[in-house]
Amino acid sequence: MPRASTVYICSACGGESLKWQGSCPACGEWNVLERSSAARPAGRASPAGAAAAPLALQAAGEPLVRLGCGLAELDRVLGGGIVPGSVTLLGGDPGIGKSTLLLQVAAHAAAGAPVLYASGEESGAQVALRARRLGLSPGSLEVLPETHLEGILERAAERGAALLVIDSIQTVASGALETAPGAVSQLKECAAELVRFAKRTATAVFLIGHVTKDGAIAGPRVLEHLVDTVLYFESETASRYRIVRATKNRFGAVNELGFFAMTEGGLREVRNPSAIFLARAAQPAAGSIVTVTRDGGRALLIELQALVDRMRFGAPRRIAQGLDANRLAMLLAVMNRHAGVSLQEHDVFVNAVGGVRIDETAWDLPVVLALASSLGERVIPGTRVAFGEIGLTGEVRPVAYGEERLQAARKQGFQSALVPRENAPRRPIDGLHVLPVARVEEALAAAFSEPPRSAPPGCAPARS
Ligand code: TYD
Ligand code: MG
Repeated sequence: MPRASTVYICSACGGESLKWQGSCPACGEWNVLERSSAARPAGRASPAGAAAAPLALQAAGEPLVRLGCGLAELDRVLGGGIVPGSVTLLGGDPGIGKSTLLLQVAAHAAAGAPVLYASGEESGAQVALRARRLGLSPGSLEVLPETHLEGILERAAERGAALLVIDSIQTVASGALETAPGAVSQLKECAAELVRFAKRTATAVFLIGHVTKDGAIAGPRVLEHLVDTVLYFESETASRYRIVRATKNRFGAVNELGFFAMTEGGLREVRNPSAIFLARAAQPAAGSIVTVTRDGGRALLIELQALVDRMRFGAPRRIAQGLDANRLAMLLAVMNRHAGVSLQEHDVFVNAVGGVRIDETAWDLPVVLALASSLGERVIPGTRVAFGEIGLTGEVRPVAYGEERLQAARKQGFQSALVPRENAPRRPIDGLHVLPVARVEEALAAAFSEPPRSAPPGCAPARS
C-alpha cells in the first residue's frame, strides 16, 4: 500500500524538511519551502528483475555499445557516445540552442533505433518545422507533445525507445503530485521516475533544463545528483559560438569541452576551436599573450590579456575573468619578490579571451608575462606562446602534456615557445624555436626578444 507522506522541499537548494518553516534549514533562504505530498511505496518493493548478483557476473554482461550523436564533439564530451540506460541533463539559458542540439541528436539516432522526443515546450508542428529547417530526415523519430510523465513513459515503453528526450523537464508533471510543473517537488519526482525508467529499460534519457534567473521555476541544479551526466551549454553574449561542458560524468571525463557554432542550419561542430579563439586576437599589443591550455582531452590555444593601470584611490583591484583570482594574487607576490616587479600601486585585470574558464596552473607563466608586458608597454612577439606553472620561490615548474602543447602551437603556426625547462622537447620540433626557462626572472628577460629569423628551427640549447 502506498503511504502518503508530506515533506517540504526548498525551491532554491532542493533540501527537504519534515515541517514547514519560514526559512530553509539547509540553505537559509526565506519563503522557499513548498509542500509536497509524494506517494511513497511502503515496505521494500523492488523493481522487477532487480535481483542481487555477484559483481563479477554483473560486469560480464553485454559489452557497452554506445549510441552515436552524429556530432563528434558531443560524443567526445559524453565520453564516447550515449550510454544505454544513462540519464543526461542538458542545462543552459533559454534560447541558447538546447532544443536544436537534441533534435539533431534525436534525428541522427532515429536512423538506427526508435526515438521519442517529448516536447512540452513546443507543439508537434513547431518541432516538425524546425526539423525541416535543419534539413533533418527524421527516420523513426516520433514527437510527442505531452507534459504528463506517465503518458510519456507509457509511449516510450510501447515503442521500445532507445533514446528519449524530455524538452523540458520543467514542463513535465507527474500525476502522483499535486504541485505545478516546474516546482522542485515535480522536478525531482519526475527526474527520479525517469532515472528508474532508464535503468529498467536501458533507454538513454536526455533531460533539457532551463537555467532560470529568478527562483519562480526551479533550476536544473537540484537534479544534478540524480542523473549520470550533467552538461551545461554556455556561450558568450552575442556570440554564435557555443560550448558544451561536462560538469559531471559517470561514463567519461569531467570538464571536457565541446565547441559548436550556431548557424542557419542548426549547430555545427567546430573541429579546430583554437582557430576561433585566436582569430579574435588583433595585432600583437602590450598585455596580450597566447597560451596553450588543456581541456579534458586536447590542447587548446587561448589568448590571455592583462591590463595594469595606476591605482586611483583605495585598495588596488585584482580582477580575473576565467582565471582564479587567488592564484593571481600569488603570482603578483612572486613577481614582486623574485623579479622586482611591483604592482602594489596598480589595479590589475586579467582575462581569458573567448569566455573560456581555465582550471589549471599552466597559465601562471603567461599571466606573469602579460602583466609585465602591460606594465612596461612592451609587446610580446605575436608568434610566441608560453605556458608553465610558477612556484612560490620563483621557479618555473613543468606542466603535463608539454610536448603535445608544443605540437598544437606549431600546428597553429606559432614559431616560438617559452616553456619550463623540463618541458623542452627531447627532439627539436620543426619550425618551433623553444626557449626553456627555469626561473620567473629568466622568463621575463627572454619574453620580449624576437625569435631568431635565420636560426635553424628547433630547440634552443637547454641550459645545464
Ligand atoms: P533553441 O534550440 O530553441 O534554444 P533552447 O531550446 O535552448 O531554448 O534555439 C533557439 C535559438 O537558436 C533561436 O534564437 C534561433 C536560433 N537558431 C538558429 O540560429 N539556427 C537554427 O537552425 C535554429 C533551429 C535555431
Ligand atoms: Mg527549447
